[in-house]
Amino acid sequence: MDSDYLIIRAAKKQPIERTPVWVMRQAGRYLPEYRATRAKAGDFLALCKNPDLAAEVTLQPIDRFGLDAAILFSDILTPLEGMGIKLSFNPAPVIHNPLRAAADIAALRLPDPDDNVPYVGQILDILVPELRERVPVIGFAGAPFTLACYAVEGGGSKLFSKTKALFFEQPALAHQLMEKLTAMTTRYLNYQIAHGVKMVQLFDTWAGILCPDDYQEFVFPYVRQIFAGLDQPGKVPKIYYINGGHQHLSAMANTGCEVVGLDWVADLAQAKDLIGHKVALQGNLDPNVLFANPEVIRAKVKTILDKQGPASGHIFNLGHGIDKEVNPEHLKVMVEAVKEFSAR
Ligand code: CP3
Repeated sequence: MDSDYLIIRAAKKQPIERTPVWVMRQAGRYLPEYRATRAKAGDFLALCKNPDLAAEVTLQPIDRFGLDAAILFSDILTPLEGMGIKLSFNPAPVIHNPLRAAADIAALRLPDPDDNVPYVGQILDILVPELRERVPVIGFAGAPFTLACYAVEGGGSKLFSKTKALFFEQPALAHQLMEKLTAMTTRYLNYQIAHGVKMVQLFDTWAGILCPDDYQEFVFPYVRQIFAGLDQPGKVPKIYYINGGHQHLSAMANTGCEVVGLDWVADLAQAKDLIGHKVALQGNLDPNVLFANPEVIRAKVKTILDKQGPASGHIFNLGHGIDKEVNPEHLKVMVEAVKEFSAR
């Protein structure tokens, strides 16, 4: 049964025999086999749109490390294409027609996922049956504010100053943009659930750049709306992740998610005291610990597991995506340490 997967039980704080573990960006450039498959596909976006090869890279870290979940191989930005946004990766994302005026936002379409991202359904149709006896597939989407940051800025940014200028100067327009992105994201996640994902993660990477008041105005209601609009409530647990979002922890726990994803600067014990009665927690090893030697990695893993203690309700992960320079053997050390130290 779906609810028997270790990671689903941990998300629901049900009994577990050990702490489950997966890693953000686990299919990626630090793996030589990923780089080889990407070269076969041509480039990153072509890989995302090639169901056989995308399924192949999704499976690579599962086979190599024995992780407890697979995550759909895609990017948070790919579903923006069907809204009319022109996207490429080099490898960082570039948006060629950034949203700057009311007319740009009015022109955004609300696409049917079957037309917009048919490759995502096709990848899942390969992966879900293939993995059924082993691990669940996690689906994901970018949260509306984080998508807006890229769409307004035209790519990554340190300050996201154009995005903030738009949100602060023209709040009504910002809300229109958030409404459209919310509608697209809700549909997109339901499409993934219909194709068999057993858990979803909403990435709100950049919501940490907002103060609590602005978060309440521009982000919280939309995230709540997405979670409330998902199919199979209670069955498909929802993880909500923010990078640098400690000021939002209580709000995050009130969005309707089952699991709050922590970055590495957060203290797991403090987060547990604050919101652990409401939600399970995911995280939160500093991704750069994987550049240290195996002894250090094992000690740091143990420190985090000790903060959780024996109770269920913790999914081990890094506090952000794994870096492309990491030695895969070091990730293996981390995964094995989690399994060894957390055995009940
Ligand atoms: O986690 C996984 O293994 C699943 C696939 C996945 C990717 N991106 C693949 C990817 C997921 C879940 C993401 C999420 C994502 N993408 C986020 C949220 C998480 C986070 O990192 O905070 C964001 C902000 C993006 C946008 C994005 N896509 C950036 C900033 C970059 C460049 C990254 C870099 O290191 O230069 C990408 C490209 C990208 N997405 C790559 C991968 C494997 C590397 C591209 C390549 O292989 O050429």
